[in-house]
Amino acid sequence: MLQIFPDAAVIAEYVSELLIQKIGDNPEITLGLATGGTMEPLYARFVAKARARRLDVSGLCSFNLDEYVGLSPDHPKSYAAYMREHLFRHLAFDPARLHLPDGLAPDLDAHSREYSERLLQMGGAEFQLLGVGTNGHIGFNEPGTPFDSRCHVVRLSERTRLDNSRFFEPGVIVPASAITLGMAEITRAREIVLIATGPAKAPIIAEWFRRDVTEEIPFTVLKRHPRAQILVDEAAASLLPPEVRASMMEIPALG
Ligand code: F6R
Repeated sequence: MLQIFPDAAVIAEYVSELLIQKIGDNPEITLGLATGGTMEPLYARFVAKARARRLDVSGLCSFNLDEYVGLSPDHPKSYAAYMREHLFRHLAFDPARLHLPDGLAPDLDAHSREYSERLLQMGGAEFQLLGVGTNGHIGFNEPGTPFDSRCHVVRLSERTRLDNSRFFEPGVIVPASAITLGMAEITRAREIVLIATGPAKAPIIAEWFRRDVTEEIPFTVLKRHPRAQILVDEAAASLLPPEVRASMMEIPALG
């Protein structure tokens, strides 16, 4: 379940290969996608390989986890813009199959219900990619979010807004709220891969290891998911007990 890799590039190599394999096996797969700094090397590697191998991505369907409330898809800091920049514009996806929450929906609660329904009608995600916040959030499900929560509007914690301020120009205020898939839709995915890289994630990875499943640390829910992998680099693993680090350094074989 927890695997330690030398660095973010090796994780990107492994997960991009896994993604290509999944899409090859089922060209109409439904993917759950994440944004954030952690995903950037992965998407870059995936795009390069998919191009080189002429992978057909036109049949796949994707659902992003979240979007800031108040940002239009054209806003450069929206997650829609992030996805275009890092993934969608580089390959021949079918735009009608790429789904993101709409941060400008006039009725956000109704839109959240509709987004959740749309995903459930597809049978949920077959393969869900996740990053993790320094407070343990997945999607934007902040600590304390019930595990049975569905897609909803969330007020972002100060910690999350501070962490994400690095993506905004100095002095620009990070949006206060977002729409996120809930813990229920995320954990319904048949297979989940969560990636955590860099020293800023080391305390929460150590906390995840120490603690039982608790809503206070949302990603501990993955401990009871039958097919969840937590992939961390050495920097993110640096606060795990040394004997644990030594036993988890093997890179799993694909297939
Ligand atoms: C992004 C998302 C978030 C991020 C998390 C880590 O769509 O759902 O949970 O995965 O905040 O962000 P980074 O990768 O920027 O550290």
